[in-house]
Amino acid sequence: MTRPLLVTNDPVVLDGLLRLAATAGVEVEVAADVGSARRSWAGAPLVVVGSDLLDRCAASRLGRRGNVVALGDDLDDATIWRKAVDVGAERVVFLPDAEPWLVQAFADAMETTDHAGLVVATLGGRGGAGATTLSVALAHAGTRRELRTLLVDGDPLGGGVDLVLGVEDLPGLRWPDLIATRGRLPAAAVIEALPHVDGIAVLSWDRGDATPLPAEAVEAVIEAGRRACDLVVVDLARTLDEGAREVLAAAACALLVVPAEVRATAAAARVASRAGLLCRDLRLVVRGPSPGNVAADDVQLALGLPLAGTLKAEPHLDVHLEEGRPPGRRSRSPLGSFCDRVLSDLLADQQVRRAA
Ligand SMILES: Nc1ncnc2c1ncn2[C@@H]1O[C@H](COP(=O)(O)OP(=O)(O)OP(=O)(O)O)[C@@H](O)[C@H]1O
Ligand SMILES: [Mg+2]
Repeated sequence: MTRPLLVTNDPVVLDGLLRLAATAGVEVEVAADVGSARRSWAGAPLVVVGSDLLDRCAASRLGRRGNVVALGDDLDDATIWRKAVDVGAERVVFLPDAEPWLVQAFADAMETTDHAGLVVATLGGRGGAGATTLSVALAHAGTRRELRTLLVDGDPLGGGVDLVLGVEDLPGLRWPDLIATRGRLPAAAVIEALPHVDGIAVLSWDRGDATPLPAEAVEAVIEAGRRACDLVVVDLARTLDEGAREVLAAAACALLVVPAEVRATAAAARVASRAGLLCRDLRLVVRGPSPGNVAADDVQLALGLPLAGTLKAEPHLDVHLEEGRPPGRRSRSPLGSFCDRVLSDLLADQQVRRAA
């Protein structure tokens, strides 16, 4: 695996940088001269060039590349900016001010770009179908398997996954903090800054006004989640706004929850026809109880979707929800065992895709 590259022959600077890399838990490559720097220059995920070797690196035409940082040692030295431009640095930083920034940059650099967590969306075939409940239970199934799990509330008008999980009073980032985001986020830092419960990182709304989710913010968050987590579960609204469409396009699979009822099936047909155009793998979850004995096969036939499974009615769910006991926390419940099985299937599919 390639490592961040430190280019300096100044022992004091090197010492400081090594300490910061150690704080980030990252091993680095050190080049004390331009010849050694050349070997790792192109492949390193991050290059930090000390001011002592900036001129020589620039003169040696090591090649343009992204993620190069020049380390200045004198705030009054105006020539540092020209040198930084010559070496192709994107920014100049000074210690000790930039210490936290550099720790984060080291950590970010080691988030392997090929790590891609599994993104799963849930949505309901009708209002109150059980999509949010399923998303929370799926997230618990993720942590049972010791997956780094992110649960995203993608429904601005929903009751809030934070309330289902009881994290509404925990400090941490919420959607309004991230709504203006676009581009590459420092994934590990963002996930770390979210409220956590039972090992699940939760991105939810606050109790302020509902705001539509811009596609760019959703894209940035999902992409960060994929890099920093193994499982990203997104609970969507059926209205499929721009943010939801972005999620469906990014998701490996979307689970459409449909109560085993005639009218729910009719409503779900509309949702399925729209979501099916956006998602590469839309699967059906038929949820009990079925007051009119509608069979899962009939629902499946009507919707023409692959069946992820049938979900028995969860006993005492509404009481548990009111008491703040999150659904599917244990694998013994119908929701828990269902989610364990569905997640196993989805992870197996992911393995197959990776091997292909
Ligand atoms: N697995 C389940 N077993 C039994 N009842 C369930 C189940 N899942 C959901 N329900 C019932 O449906 C209600 C709504 O569930 P949930 O909030 O998860 O649905 P939703 O699809 O997210 O709804 P919304 O349209 O509001 O987003 C629950 O309060 C409960 O009464
Ligand atoms: Mg919901």
